[in-house]
Amino acid sequence: TAAVHPAGPHPRRRHVLLFPLPYQGHINPMFRLAGVLHARGFAITVFHTSFNAPDPARHPQYRFVPVPDGISGPAPVAIEDVVARIIALGPACEPAFRDRLAAVLDEYSRSGDAVACLVADAHLLPVFQVATSMALPALALRTGSAASYACFAAYPMLCDRGYLPLVRIHDMMDAFIDSFPVFLDQQDSQLDMLVPELPPYRVRDLMQLGKGGHGLIRELLARAVAAVEASSGLILNTFDALEHGELAGIRLDLAAAVPVFDVGPLHKLSPAAGGDDISLLRQDRACLEWLDAQPRDSVLYVSFGSLACMTPWDLAETAWGIAGSGVPFLWVVRPGLVRGACQSQHYNQQQLPEGFEAATRGRGMVVSWAPQEDVLRHRAVGGFWTHNGWNSTMESVCEGVPMLCRPYFGDQPGNVRYVEHVWRVGFEVGGELERGTVEAAIRRLMTSADGAEMRARAGELKKAAAECIGKGGSSCLAIDKLVTHIMSLDS
Ligand code: UDX
Repeated sequence: TAAVHPAGPHPRRRHVLLFPLPYQGHINPMFRLAGVLHARGFAITVFHTSFNAPDPARHPQYRFVPVPDGISGPAPVAIEDVVARIIALGPACEPAFRDRLAAVLDEYSRSGDAVACLVADAHLLPVFQVATSMALPALALRTGSAASYACFAAYPMLCDRGYLPLVRIHDMMDAFIDSFPVFLDQQDSQLDMLVPELPPYRVRDLMQLGKGGHGLIRELLARAVAAVEASSGLILNTFDALEHGELAGIRLDLAAAVPVFDVGPLHKLSPAAGGDDISLLRQDRACLEWLDAQPRDSVLYVSFGSLACMTPWDLAETAWGIAGSGVPFLWVVRPGLVRGACQSQHYNQQQLPEGFEAATRGRGMVVSWAPQEDVLRHRAVGGFWTHNGWNSTMESVCEGVPMLCRPYFGDQPGNVRYVEHVWRVGFEVGGELERGTVEAAIRRLMTSADGAEMRARAGELKKAAAECIGKGGSSCLAIDKLVTHIMSLDS
């Protein structure tokens, strides 16, 4: 169907424009999607904010268009501030995006090329509004699970019916805890109540941000749902065998106006070129050599993603729990992982408690940032202690690695519910972290019969993921449908 350029024999190119949300957990799936679409013959143009800008030199095959966002100052650390920044980013770059988009559309049109559509992160509602005002079809990429999107859409109903905000419960606890201990028990049991409108979630698994964050998360989710509902299609980084019922539910809700494409796991469909082409932090690849020297399934990989923050207490209990377990480990202690660590005299440069290195010498490795996909694929890795961000969860599932779960915020508690209760490939270490509990949990995952069963079930999921992306698999078919859909959008 390639048309001929009016000025010569140059085939008419089809462009897809992308706009990722500039956070690691969102950049990764968007660039993997870029790889998939590029392999199908689309020319890729990436719009990006100045905040956490990608390095164009690492992707010579794509065109990059910077969109100034006017935001200055250091990246926020506290999760409430991160969410506030995410909400602010869309409006902050809207005027500049309008100009840049108009210029790019004009340029491609003058050169005889076609622009099929824009694919933007669902958290960038103003970007969708700009595209719509210019009659450019826009598809939404949601980087979380299908189940978490169902929770986004149900959020107002969950608030109306009194399941949320959870903070109301905590606030009341704070006020009454001393005088009404029975009341505390009742509230605690409410957290374990099933939410019949959204199985298998319990109240405690619903999307949340912690005390004071309710208004922010409600706004964040409402904007994402509005973006999806205004879009020409929803792209989800999940696969049918993992979330069959959840995908069916979303399709029912969105109906034909917004087709849903379950194209995951994107990182398996379009693996990283050279390892860390999209990493905001430099990946320390030396840990792969260290893993080469370890026995099969022996190493616990510990990482809490790009945003989660722990207290110095939690870090110390984690460290001493790891040390006490006797299990070999690879631990990512990224800059900023520990709240206020730079002010603390009790933590060394790597934020770890004094004596930890000596206590674990020869048995483990600590890095600032790891090539996580390669690490999870490594035969030596037998378990993953994770915060259960959706990318980490998918990456673990796809490599058959069972999980020890410690969710922090947002979709993470809901992801853990699936890991523990639905897929049964891991379990949560809940409550206050304490070294004895940590030690026991690590041993359970790495050395018990129970842990071996979780590993076997994770192996089954790995096979299911491989089938989905294989010839005729559900994700492969979804990509075919997505490509056909995109072609149908280009006028
Ligand atoms: C955030 C939210 O925490 C998460 O719940 C949501 O689903 C997406 O946005 P993040 O905390 O970054 O994500 O976690 P996650 O979704 O797991 O993404 C982290 C990414 O960074 C993964 O793709 C992982 O492979 C990569 N990573 C992590 C590394 O490359 N190296 C590391 O050392 C750690």
